[in-house]
Amino acid sequence: MAKRSTTFVCQSCGAVTAKWAGRCESCGEWNSIVEEQTGGGIGGGPSRGSTTRGRVIELVGLEGDAKEPLRIQSKVAELDRVTGGGFVRGSALLVGGDPGIGKSTLLIQAAAALADLGHKTVYISGEEAIGQVRLRAERLGLAKSPVALAAETSVEDILATLQADKPPALVILDSVQTLWTDKVDSPPGTVTQVRASAQAMVRYAKKTGSTLVLVGHVTKDGQIAGPRVVEHMVDAVLYFEGDGAHQYRILRSVKNRFGATDEIGVFEMTGAGLQQVANPSALFLGERSTNSPGAAVFAGLEGSRPLLIEIQALVAPSPLGTPRRAVIGWDSARLSMILAVLEARCGIRFSQHDVYLNVAGGLRINEPGADLAVAAALVSSLSGLALPANCVYFGEVSLSGAIRPVAQAQSRLKEAEKLGFDKAFCPQGNLKDKALTDLTANGLEELGDFIAKISAQAGRTESDGS
Ligand code: TYD
Ligand code: MG
Repeated sequence: MAKRSTTFVCQSCGAVTAKWAGRCESCGEWNSIVEEQTGGGIGGGPSRGSTTRGRVIELVGLEGDAKEPLRIQSKVAELDRVTGGGFVRGSALLVGGDPGIGKSTLLIQAAAALADLGHKTVYISGEEAIGQVRLRAERLGLAKSPVALAAETSVEDILATLQADKPPALVILDSVQTLWTDKVDSPPGTVTQVRASAQAMVRYAKKTGSTLVLVGHVTKDGQIAGPRVVEHMVDAVLYFEGDGAHQYRILRSVKNRFGATDEIGVFEMTGAGLQQVANPSALFLGERSTNSPGAAVFAGLEGSRPLLIEIQALVAPSPLGTPRRAVIGWDSARLSMILAVLEARCGIRFSQHDVYLNVAGGLRINEPGADLAVAAALVSSLSGLALPANCVYFGEVSLSGAIRPVAQAQSRLKEAEKLGFDKAFCPQGNLKDKALTDLTANGLEELGDFIAKISAQAGRTESDGS
């Protein structure tokens, strides 16, 4: 019989300590440490006596046979893109996201899509009763799909059920926080339970070749065990994001052992469930006002996919000694840097002005390639002159004011052309390779140069208009 012991586990990061403390030393979270009983054997395979000798394993070279993993495609293109071309057999995925963002909706739609294609699909809900899941399926028009459904939280029961029959192609567990196993004594939802349950399920998937999808909540206050501890166990981690104010949702892969990360799938939450958005640029540019100062279209890149996004700036005289800088959807340190470069290298002063910057549509951009579009929006707002509506901007600005090349300029230009733009400002370094588009691309080397060009252009548009 394994010895029981008491440990203190941080419910936010999973760190184990011998004593209780008000604050976790490892992640800094307050009030997250909970006493847990651990039986032996969590995470263990069958325990061997310490005197047994290990088996000798064969070591091989890097070169040799390697098969492409077998995949099952859901034919939901946006989902397949994010998984790297379909769910890999025998792999485990974690789909994380805020409560209410649409994880259950996405997965029931994926389950139905696979079931309709003839794959055996099991959906186990630990959060909702069968009736609730059925109601949702009916609302989504999926009630006829041959998905096998259960409402259950006990890992032993789930495993017994799955093992009684041919292994399914896809098993969805919604959510990992509700699972519990007899093997450990901690209450459901604690890190120890979540870890032990997830591990048992992942082992099942690896052994049988089923694809396992675990749903996990991310809560701000760390009340329920975060799925962070599970992230290390699974092969892929997808985040489903979006905010309540906007109807679109983004599925983003942050870890993928079988495909590229940073890939995104865009969906729109409608009355009839999640619809794929095949052309997200059109969505993000949808409500653009073309002739107001302070707006610039950034030709960005999310994963391998080009995306056009509107950057909005408002520069207004400040009554405060220390003017305000507020940023939504971009890095505020990066904004300070662009302001400093504009001031030091181009002589444009913002020190008497409040600066507000917003990425339209509620999207978050992490790319430094947005520097040029931000600079354009700032200068346009300060001068009160609108930028031409048919033009896109991209390029990284260095502290010296030089404009540096960015990745995949061609696909950005092509996306802009596809959406009816006919001009682009981009780094000169990106124009070395022959342009394949009909777009007029203006190559730039210096920020000062760029400011002079757009000022002249904006002025011209102004005089044309009046
Ligand atoms: P849900 O999938 O239950 O979220 P999660 O599993 O991530 O907690 O979806 C919750 C929200 O989605 C809910 O507020 C209602 C909305 N929704 C729609 O707008 N349309 C629909 O067709 C469905 C099923 C849900
Ligand atoms: Mg749910």
